[in-house]
Amino acid sequence: MKKPAASDHPIHELLRERWSPRAFSDKPVSADTLRSLFEAARWAPSSSNEQPWTFIVATKNDHANHAKLVSALVESNQVWAKNAPVVGIAVSHLTFARSGTPNRNAFYDTGAAMADLTIEATSQGLLVHQMAGFDSHKAIELFLIPTGWEPIAAFVIGYPGDPHSLPGNLWERELAPRTRKPLKDFVMSGTWGQPAAFLK
Ligand SMILES: Cc1cc2nc3c(=O)[nH]c(=O)nc-3n(C[C@H](O)[C@H](O)[C@H](O)COP(=O)(O)O)c2cc1C
Repeated sequence: MKKPAASDHPIHELLRERWSPRAFSDKPVSADTLRSLFEAARWAPSSSNEQPWTFIVATKNDHANHAKLVSALVESNQVWAKNAPVVGIAVSHLTFARSGTPNRNAFYDTGAAMADLTIEATSQGLLVHQMAGFDSHKAIELFLIPTGWEPIAAFVIGYPGDPHSLPGNLWERELAPRTRKPLKDFVMSGTWGQPAAFLK
């Protein structure tokens, strides 16, 4: 299933085609493809080139680790995410490796790496669904995440599936239109709240 963005202005097809599904097909994601996705994340920009991200990932054929990752999700995410062929958690290093001083851009940079991974995935016919709905304390315990590192967001990756395979009424959410704020609400110039002139 496709759910392209109804954009007000032209954008690249990869950005139009990216969305966050809950239904995934059983088709596994090959090791070659996964290497490309994390390679895309690897080349993301970051403050001082710190690359403060780490990804804990499991494919479905690694049953134990896939189940372990799914168990860290909140129940409302588990019900659909458990069927995805790849599940993971993005983790950020909160301090600079060299100086030990706080890296206030660690979350930002980890998000940028995830964004690049997501666009690479879209280019390969895959979709990524990120999730804040997980238990970070449980993730820290389950995966022995060291002090100074924080799990930021969970995610699943897979090929699109049939919305009617989803439990309960989740198919309705799957088919619901995608919406966004208008540009004038968040692109400003001069003073706060003043829409940028080029929007007129
Ligand atoms: C950091 C982050 C956390 C999210 N958390 C959840 C979540 O816990 N459960 C869920 O179903 N979707 C989650 N989403 C997906 C968003 O709801 C989705 O991206 C948003 O509604 C826009 O839809 P789209 O990605 O299809 O354009 C999350 C997305 C991001 C980026």
